[in-house]
Amino acid sequence: MRTALYPGSFDPVTYGHMDIMERAIKVFDRLIVTVARDVGSKEPTFTVEERVEMIEACAKQWEEVTVGSFAGLLVDCARACGVHTVIRGLRAVTDFEYEFQMALTNRSLDPDFECIYLMPSKDYTYLSSTMVKEIARLGGDISPFVPPLVEGKLREKFRS
Ligand code: PNS
Repeated sequence: MRTALYPGSFDPVTYGHMDIMERAIKVFDRLIVTVARDVGSKEPTFTVEERVEMIEACAKQWEEVTVGSFAGLLVDCARACGVHTVIRGLRAVTDFEYEFQMALTNRSLDPDFECIYLMPSKDYTYLSSTMVKEIARLGGDISPFVPPLVEGKLREKFRS
């Protein structure tokens, strides 16, 4: 069975992430979406439990998808899951540098590590969780970018 890991912050999950999940399950039999507990130096907007719950609800139509979380290194999470292939979405050239660095760093930590990049629909190439949160915070319409459940959670969070 071909299994891949789809790691990310997912703070929160957007239609862009869901587009990548849908493409990944056309190529892999099983996709483990794994939510990073820590999102770099900044404080996440949603707790890891909230982020996992939102993805579980939004991806429930795909039986190939399971959702979990991880702390620490991605290569350790991959090893613990017994998976060597990681999926990442590549939206624009601006993503490339970071992804290139991350893939090669991970490969130097674990030579078996492989990263596969999928491009989302052109409708989502500009989309990011950070921008969606800013629009929500400023009272704009986020319905084209996130599923209704996530829209509700963002509205609650920012009371807009
Ligand atoms: O959705 P994001 O924020 O682009 O996801 C980035 C993520 C969580 C996949 C990346 O930061 C990560 O793998 N973090 C775990 C820590 C790690 O393994 N760092 C070393 C390789 S960069």
